[in-house]
Amino acid sequence: MTRRVLVLGGSGFVGRHFIEQLQRADIYVTVPTRRMIAARELWPLPFVTPLEADVTKPDVLARLVPGHDAVINLIGTLHGNQALFARLHGELPRQLAAACTASGVRRVLHVSALGVSADAPSRYLRTKAAGEDALRQVAQSGALDLTILRPSVIYGADDRFLNVFARLQRVFPVLAVPCANARFQPVWVRDVAEALVRCLSNRDAVGETLELAGPDVWTLRDLVRSAGKWSGVRGGRGRPVIGLPGALGSLQALFMEWMPGRPLLSRDNLASMKVASVASGKLPGLGALGIQAASLPAVAPTYLGRDGSIRRLDVYRQMAGR
Ligand SMILES: NC(=O)c1ccc[n+]([C@@H]2O[C@H](COP(=O)([O-])OP(=O)(O)OC[C@H]3O[C@@H](n4cnc5c(N)ncnc54)[C@H](OP(=O)(O)O)[C@@H]3O)[C@@H](O)[C@H]2O)c1
Repeated sequence: MTRRVLVLGGSGFVGRHFIEQLQRADIYVTVPTRRMIAARELWPLPFVTPLEADVTKPDVLARLVPGHDAVINLIGTLHGNQALFARLHGELPRQLAAACTASGVRRVLHVSALGVSADAPSRYLRTKAAGEDALRQVAQSGALDLTILRPSVIYGADDRFLNVFARLQRVFPVLAVPCANARFQPVWVRDVAEALVRCLSNRDAVGETLELAGPDVWTLRDLVRSAGKWSGVRGGRGRPVIGLPGALGSLQALFMEWMPGRPLLSRDNLASMKVASVASGKLPGLGALGIQAASLPAVAPTYLGRDGSIRRLDVYRQMAGR
């Protein structure tokens, strides 16, 4: 029986939705965060204990893991140098496995990504593969009950994906998009959160690697176009979208890397898009957990539209059966 879980990366996009669902199951949640303010949306939740800690520092995980029935690792980044990617995606899972083994906490859910492999074209995908391997090795020795979840790109009311495409179209008359033919199978954040909750209580998920994807494959060009339409830009027609050739796309990414704040795009992101973020179909998916994946056109217009903030509540009302 799962009563108390430790969620690493719980302050993030997926974490907030997942923890909201854990609340409904009366599960106590500990959420370490580097800055308490990052977890502010979780503060009011009665079963959540946010605490300030940097889990990448030595011994912090060894201190935090004991006393929990399971650990869920949602930590990840799309931006940073090689050292940060290696530390967060490769080394942290290794340290997590060691902390779990030392304290006898067996159940671990680890969120990776579709397309990971040791010879993938991007640091993101290669280091994510290293993290999977580190955990899998310990699980194969019998010390962990591991489930790995590999989502495609994740969308939802507060995403930094379709919302960004929509916002850009409110500002620019034309959108120039690199890797316009890159393929994705977007999955709703609520379905990802539900998958995590079901994995916690489902022993059949132990030892599995699951591919989390929506029902349809989209090109990046079509996703950008649709975000413009669904957000009501130009009376619902959206802006024209043009594909940038490879070299220009890299220049655009380089420029964005140097802009202040979190970059919209990096050259490593472009490299990741060389691999389709699409389920292979060889591994179990949401269906294996009894979840029927939401369709993007059914959900995205409810939060991207001009009246999205009101219609978004309808989605929640519908889910609450009210
Ligand atoms: N969103 C997607 O479309 C998508 C697609 C495929 C896979 N994934 C994977 O799914 C997981 C969750 O994604 P998400 O969108 O929820 O991510 P997110 O919103 O960016 O949140 C990431 C979390 O990681 C923590 N984190 C980031 N950098 C860190 C650092 N340097 N040291 C320690 N902690 C750090 C943050 O914690 P604090 O700031 O609170 O410390 C944050 O809560 C990630 O592993 C991601 O790679 C996401």
